[in-house]
Amino acid sequence: MNQTTNPVSVNKLLQDLENHIQGFQYGNSPAELYEPISYIMSLGGKRIRPLLTLMAYSLYKDDYESILTPASAVEVFHNFTLMHDDIMDDAPLRRGKATVHEKWNANTAILSGDVMLVKAYEMLVKVSPEKLPEILSLFNQTAAEVCEGQQHDMNFEKIDVVSEEDYIDMIRQKTAVLLGFALQFGALLADASKEEAQKLYDFGVNIGIGFQLKDDLLDVYADQAKFGKQVGGDIISNKKTFLLIKAKELAEGEEKNELEKWIAREDFDKVEKVSAVTEIYDKVGIKTLTESKMQDYFKKGFDQYNSLSVPNLLSFNMLLELTQDLIHREK
Ligand code: IPE
Ligand code: IPE
Ligand code: MG
Ligand code: MG
Ligand code: MG
Repeated sequence: MNQTTNPVSVNKLLQDLENHIQGFQYGNSPAELYEPISYIMSLGGKRIRPLLTLMAYSLYKDDYESILTPASAVEVFHNFTLMHDDIMDDAPLRRGKATVHEKWNANTAILSGDVMLVKAYEMLVKVSPEKLPEILSLFNQTAAEVCEGQQHDMNFEKIDVVSEEDYIDMIRQKTAVLLGFALQFGALLADASKEEAQKLYDFGVNIGIGFQLKDDLLDVYADQAKFGKQVGGDIISNKKTFLLIKAKELAEGEEKNELEKWIAREDFDKVEKVSAVTEIYDKVGIKTLTESKMQDYFKKGFDQYNSLSVPNLLSFNMLLELTQDLIHREK
């Protein structure tokens, strides 16, 4: 394998990406439409999706600077989904700050989100013209699946029993396919073969499922100060996370009754519900079970990743480390 003479670091990619994202002109007037965009885009975030695009590109080519705009499109799209997701989930906090619908109002978050989707397309179409039809078709497929997953997620809140299989498919759609797309996108922009791009997509989907399992775990077990979102939000809204689905299967006797009681209650003290349900999760060993399911998906992904034939070993290892770090993240 060749070693690149001028290796880039994750920090350098991240810095260039951040400058690009902050420097982009999303629009100014009316301020009520565009301020929430600057707001959410400046709150930080891990930038994992565009990083995946840049890194997948760097597996095959060195000039990642040439794709900063299309890579940023993936982040703008992601932030659009977050703005709307926070309305749907009635979430007060995002990245340690008030959510857009809390700071402004729901209508503002809906419309700013809408225009963000438009901006994401504006950035995406900056790929070279001969690649555009394929990229658009893959992106459209992905974006529609994210919405489908989000609708399943909401439908599941109202259903009593959700199978593990249906849950995994829901998170594959709402979260994992975008990580898959981000990687495939970078590979295609770097002229990698369709087979390589597909393997990266599959890798992304598997670590994406692991990523959402971790997100569900953090929602219950994160340190509030580090997490930046409301700990316990999923419990409050009866989200059918892997944790709740398995706890419902495993709990017996008094614990089962308690759990059913908390799920059925319409009037409750949020803090009390979160602590009671967490206690039941602890008793049935949900944390370990979820961690092991998460590890399964990451492992499946890494096995696929290791079957790639990448020319640049340094970039190969950099992407591997970045994705391995997702397992241990605290936010
Ligand atoms: C949050 O995504 C939504 C999920 C799909 C779990 P991230 O955990 O990537 O959030 P940010 O962008 O880093 O804030
Ligand atoms: C949302 O999943 C995934 C999206 C498509 C936005 P969550 O609802 O669990 O994401 P967070 O926890 O609010 O970031
Ligand atoms: Mg949600
Ligand atoms: Mg949410
Ligand atoms: Mg979540």
